[in-house]
Amino acid sequence: MTIRCCYSLISLLIFHTRLNLIMIEKYWEYLAAAISLYFVIHFVYPRFQKKKSATERSRENDVSNDNYSDVEEDDGVAPALPEDLEHVPLKFDILSTDVMIKNSRDFYEKMNRRRTIRTFSSKSFPKEVIYNIIKTAGTAPSGAHTEPWTFVVVESMDIKREIREIIETEEETNYKKRMGKKWTTDLKPLRTNWIKEYLTEAPYLILVFKQSYGLKPDGTKKNHYYNEQSLSIAVGFLLAAIHNAGLFSLTSTPLNCGPAIRLLLNRPSSEKLAFLLPVGYPSEGCLVPDLHRKPLYEIMIEY
Ligand SMILES: Cc1cc2nc3c(=O)[nH]c(=O)nc-3n(C[C@H](O)[C@H](O)[C@H](O)COP(=O)(O)O)c2cc1C
Repeated sequence: MTIRCCYSLISLLIFHTRLNLIMIEKYWEYLAAAISLYFVIHFVYPRFQKKKSATERSRENDVSNDNYSDVEEDDGVAPALPEDLEHVPLKFDILSTDVMIKNSRDFYEKMNRRRTIRTFSSKSFPKEVIYNIIKTAGTAPSGAHTEPWTFVVVESMDIKREIREIIETEEETNYKKRMGKKWTTDLKPLRTNWIKEYLTEAPYLILVFKQSYGLKPDGTKKNHYYNEQSLSIAVGFLLAAIHNAGLFSLTSTPLNCGPAIRLLLNRPSSEKLAFLLPVGYPSEGCLVPDLHRKPLYEIMIEY
């Protein structure tokens, strides 16, 4: 019985093999096409996909870096600025080349003397200066003229103390746990730590809030295109204006303190704390790190 079974099985196998050979002989073109297709689907296509997705990924990255993430889709209503906005003649002076060269050199030399200080005197100065430097910051260009900034000026010692409390608490954790060895090591030459006496010493603190979006008179959201870049330009203007007024500052971006300070200063959730700058005079005997700036040939490429 077993022998019979084995015999039948072997015959069946031989029959199948012969049948398969006949089939292969008859349909080999189709078989070759199927095998080629299999290779294309399993090996060639995934590689092509990988390459494509890398390019797409970098494009997506560019788009997200472009600050489009906050942009609301077009709702088809009127533009944020009046549609019939008047265009007026530009007021400008054409300078002689000599004056142009002198002005640009003088301005560079002035700006090259700007330094960040970390110890401030409590000596005050007229508030009007603060108004002027903030007005200067407000002259910065902004995406679609959306002016996505709010400058909060703090002179009150009570509020300065509360801000210092928030920042020092967070900064201690930042330095000890969040920033890591590399970052804290890189900061060592600048002699910074989580104690921020300048927050109560400097006569004024300017807190710069980024408006992620605005509100139209009808309460709908107004897109603030490139709000990050616009805000940073405004802070650059602010720093130049502070320096031009003979005052000093410390550019800071308090890590993890934004929400608590926003609540303390009653700013809406559409705003995010981006910069905090104490403004004032240097403390007696104030020291600054002996830093050198990159020369022109290292920061410029000409074609
Ligand atoms: C975005 C930004 C954040 C900064 N944050 C801090 C900070 O938290 N603490 C600090 O002491 N300096 C801070 N600085 C100041 C830099 O350390 C300083 O500009 C740099 O060392 C160059 O010195 P200078 O401003 O005197 O040319 C910051 C500067 C920038 C632009």
